[in-house]
Amino acid sequence: MKNNTTALKKLFYLWGRSQVPIKQTVRISRIDNLIIFLICILISIISSYKLLLISPLNISDIFSWLLTFTEVLVGSGILILVSRKENPTISSRQIIFIISLLLAVQSSKLALASTISPLSLIIPPALIIAQGMGSITALSWVSIASISWPEPAFAINNNLFFILLVCASVVSVLGGKIRSRAQLLQVSIFVPIGSFLGQWILIGKDKISLIDNEEFVFANGDLFSDALLLAIVMLFTILFIPIFESIFGLLTKARLLELADKEKPLIRRLSLEAPGTFEHTLLICGLAEEATRMIGGDIDLIKTGALYHDVGKLHAPNWFIENQNGSKNPHDEIDDPIKSAEVLQAHVDEGLKYARKNRLPKPIADFIPEHQGTLKMGYFFHKAKEKNIKINENDFRYNGPIPQSKETAILMLADGCEAALRAMNINASDKEALEIISKIIYSRQKDGQLDDSNLSKGEIFLIKRAFLNVWKRIRHRRIQYPTNKNNTFS
Ligand SMILES: [Fe+2]
Ligand SMILES: [Fe+2]
Repeated sequence: MKNNTTALKKLFYLWGRSQVPIKQTVRISRIDNLIIFLICILISIISSYKLLLISPLNISDIFSWLLTFTEVLVGSGILILVSRKENPTISSRQIIFIISLLLAVQSSKLALASTISPLSLIIPPALIIAQGMGSITALSWVSIASISWPEPAFAINNNLFFILLVCASVVSVLGGKIRSRAQLLQVSIFVPIGSFLGQWILIGKDKISLIDNEEFVFANGDLFSDALLLAIVMLFTILFIPIFESIFGLLTKARLLELADKEKPLIRRLSLEAPGTFEHTLLICGLAEEATRMIGGDIDLIKTGALYHDVGKLHAPNWFIENQNGSKNPHDEIDDPIKSAEVLQAHVDEGLKYARKNRLPKPIADFIPEHQGTLKMGYFFHKAKEKNIKINENDFRYNGPIPQSKETAILMLADGCEAALRAMNINASDKEALEIISKIIYSRQKDGQLDDSNLSKGEIFLIKRAFLNVWKRIRHRRIQYPTNKNNTFS
């Protein structure tokens, strides 16, 4: 009995822990909520109204209509909850996009279900959702789209239903992991081949017709044309994904990797106009990537976010020490700590402007303000105090917000440790490096900067170890190998 109670307690504890959000969810405005609700009602009506067209209508028909209507409405609600749970930063535009896809599929089922294979209706949208919102959202979308059929007269073959579920699940799971457009192309070729073989084995090869030109594409049950149509629709979907990315702000893995390309104009500008900041950025990428790998976070997201975190420094590169390269420090010339603090804050504000101009997706733009959080600009704050200027401490703090995700919090910590690690003596021991890292991280923690990030103590420990590992790598790179004039390495 006691064992059971302990097991139950453990279970409740694990459940409680699993409910901690990874990131604060974005609030949705009332008008958007209303639009989303109306679309859900429309989906439920489309999915169920045919049940009311039976004559004579009796109570059991009305009851079964009500059941279907409620089932689809609740299903749509669950889909929205799952998508918000998987993507806490999901915008109302993206939720509207997901449920509009459901609406489009339900309407197409009414219009085309008797002529087009359900595979071509359900699998391509699942690919878009998996790419943009993740596998779990895609799987929930697939389950609602496959279970609810608005046309009661159209009975989907059990084997076909099984193949549909398998193919759509494969696409949903792979779609969430795919990291390049080439892999997308492979999926859009291999899934139709798989569905073709599956139907051939389960439904029968007698329905295959390769040269029946008249009904080549649209004939229902014609396995070859079904698979061909699926491949064509999936290829078109891939062509349209970049358009959806830009209209609905979807952040696919492929888009993340494209943004991480150092030949992107904004990054090229950073390397040419603010070379010091660019070097700092590259080192931070290394630190943040290692730490994110250690805690199992989103490596592609942090690599790209880190690359853009300080692009705002492009507005005045020489005001930042890493770009001064021995030349005069403009902050000394103006000798006004309040103005200097404004210049520092401007690197965040201008960064957000660059992000908007270059259409950076929101999760990437979030790294710009959150890497600075509400940190105090200590140097200028003390300078102002020395000058006895009447000051408010908040004037010397960044505007925030503090990091809202594990990834932006890691970037803040990497940003803090980078300069200290770079400045460290090459002969410093691991213990000394770890002490410095711990001191910087502790100061951020004490200042409340990590409060919204949900980083656990264990994860902070792992982050420290990861930073230390990168420091060891840097030190190794900086050790000069002894050269011998007579030594030829060729
Ligand atoms: Fe910064
Ligand atoms: Fe930075």
